[in-house]
Amino acid sequence: MILSSSSNPKYSMCWLSYKPIEKKEYVQEVEKFLEHIVLLEKNIYFQNAGNELKMALSVLFGTEPRLNSALNLYVDNGIVLGKVTNENLQAFITDVEKEAVGEEGFIIKVIDENKKKYIIVASKSEKGIIYGIFHLINKFRLKTKLNELNCIENPKAPLRIINHWDNMDGSVERGYAGKSIFFSHGRIKRIYKRIGDYARLLASIGINGVVINNVNVRDKAIWLITPKYLNDLSKIAEIFRLYGIKLYLSINFASPIYIGGLDTADPLDKNVQKWWKDTVKTIYSYIPDFGGFLVKADSEFNPGPYVYGRTHADGANMLAEALLPYEGVVIWRAFVYNCLQDWRDTKTDRAKAAYDNFKPLDGRFSENVILQIKYGPMDFQVREPVSPLFGAMEKTNQMMEFQITQEYTGQQIHLCYLGTLWKEILEFDTYCKGKGSYVKRIVDGSLFGRKYAGFAGVSNIGDSINWTGHDLAQANLWTFGKLTWDPDRKIEDIAREWIILTFGDDKKVVENILWMLINSHAIYEKYTTPLGLGWMVNPGHHYGPNPEGYEYSKWGTYHRADTKAIGVDRTSRGTGYTLQYHKPWQEIFDDINKCPEELLLFFHRVPYDFRLKNGKTLIQFMYDSHFEGAEMVDKLIEKWKELKGKIDDEIFNRVYERLKMQKEHAIEWRDVINTYFYRKTGIPDEKGRVIYP
Ligand code: GCU
Repeated sequence: MILSSSSNPKYSMCWLSYKPIEKKEYVQEVEKFLEHIVLLEKNIYFQNAGNELKMALSVLFGTEPRLNSALNLYVDNGIVLGKVTNENLQAFITDVEKEAVGEEGFIIKVIDENKKKYIIVASKSEKGIIYGIFHLINKFRLKTKLNELNCIENPKAPLRIINHWDNMDGSVERGYAGKSIFFSHGRIKRIYKRIGDYARLLASIGINGVVINNVNVRDKAIWLITPKYLNDLSKIAEIFRLYGIKLYLSINFASPIYIGGLDTADPLDKNVQKWWKDTVKTIYSYIPDFGGFLVKADSEFNPGPYVYGRTHADGANMLAEALLPYEGVVIWRAFVYNCLQDWRDTKTDRAKAAYDNFKPLDGRFSENVILQIKYGPMDFQVREPVSPLFGAMEKTNQMMEFQITQEYTGQQIHLCYLGTLWKEILEFDTYCKGKGSYVKRIVDGSLFGRKYAGFAGVSNIGDSINWTGHDLAQANLWTFGKLTWDPDRKIEDIAREWIILTFGDDKKVVENILWMLINSHAIYEKYTTPLGLGWMVNPGHHYGPNPEGYEYSKWGTYHRADTKAIGVDRTSRGTGYTLQYHKPWQEIFDDINKCPEELLLFFHRVPYDFRLKNGKTLIQFMYDSHFEGAEMVDKLIEKWKELKGKIDDEIFNRVYERLKMQKEHAIEWRDVINTYFYRKTGIPDEKGRVIYP
């Protein structure tokens, strides 16, 4: 379905583009339940959920169910929306089931008796109902059998938040899909239709929070927490609220100076504390369910508590105290490292920084502070080990930060589905409480019994016609949401569902796109920086190959290649980074023969003639990987070309153009990296392929 908006004449609704269901038997089977939609609660949330459902059913089944807010079950046929405690539902929902539905969860029950034909969607609170409705709509679209609709669904992670790196001038830091949908020319945009549609997309994947401004809070964005902008923000919050999503803001830690006119932002200063309390009070007077603050402090030139000789706990707790009376939270980023390193200094290891800064503070953060930790210790490279902070801070709330936007993974020109990587990260066993201490159990809060835990994903959307630039990059947003809801799900199932909802269930379409998605990260890794190497990108914009682009910089991102070897020794004999992990990982990562090969060059300095498990030398592996990776892009193209005629022409062509660019740029990666290694080592390719001297 193409909808119009004021900022962009047309844009797609991604996986929510409804089409009539073609299978007649299915339509006939479900139709019997669709005469009415009954709302057992009278409020805007149930009304909105009812409207969503009605709109979807009219397209999917061509029916026009009557929407009744009768508050009782006087009809004997229909989809019934209510709270699990509603008296009309007591005959259908058992006490055990009621108990099993969580705060944001829902139950779906199909009642198919002689006279009564109901599909009940019930939640515990207003929040759960919209998730339930989208779940049901998508299940219909997947033609799920009626008896398989019965379910109780609860999100596993309490916080499921999208982080926008949107600036107030309308640009998006690391954005590859157009301009911000929230800001333009220093103002908040009033394009409520598009924001509403965005809220629908997010609710349909279970998201419950959104931070709309960049973590780097500069210029006008510093003032977002003041009445100057709060009116407009309250309108945006209202739109999101209807879909169960809370608004959060990134703040500048030095706001008391910039806005308040104080001469300090010291978190222990009474005037600073009061200033934040007053500010928070004002925010809540505009946005009563405001989520809280996201803070990038003492990181990449952003101010923080270190400026005043205070700890990150001092800084976070001061804000947390101001937010606590309103149930707001502080999400404090752990991305703290020295970004003014000297490349000559081989002792300092950026990978160790987050742990070194935060581990000593375990147990010192207030209950409404959550530490947001990037998945790896560096910065969203194509492959990094899991950050050792997961599993190191039992007494601290933790959130996983994933980067949905493809900064280092092809910038939405290259196809790089991230679900496979994320899933591996979530399945990592930290061993912090013995075997079975998976990352997914830490970030869903269950391992340490935390009230606050969850996921943050750096958004990949903008105001482009398809939201994400590359149409297939929509799968990354979808998958992020689905994993936050249930990190235990199989990634193939999540991807397959997205394909069917987006492109239909033609066998070839599903098969080919699934192959493309599932293999794309490995392909990208092969022709860029395999074996955990990372960082061979052009500085600044981070696109395209540049083997020494970061080698002599201040960012702490070195591979230190010479003519004999490459990689940083991060073992206990080297920088000691491996000591930040629990056993047995310490020993495994320490041992060049046991270290998972895909991370070899992250942990070890390896001579080019070192033999990998398959018998290849490191240098030969590098050559092979780059040739293979670039060649495999042809396979992606082939798979896509086979779908011509089966996919909407416009989308087909758009993706095809990007795949062709990907091929060209993959060749560039292949040749630049291979030439680099050939020039360093003088070792020719065993297979005699062209490497430019
Ligand atoms: C990366 C990225 C920056 C971003 C930073 C962060 O370094 O390149 O644009 O601000 O991460 O996560 O804070």
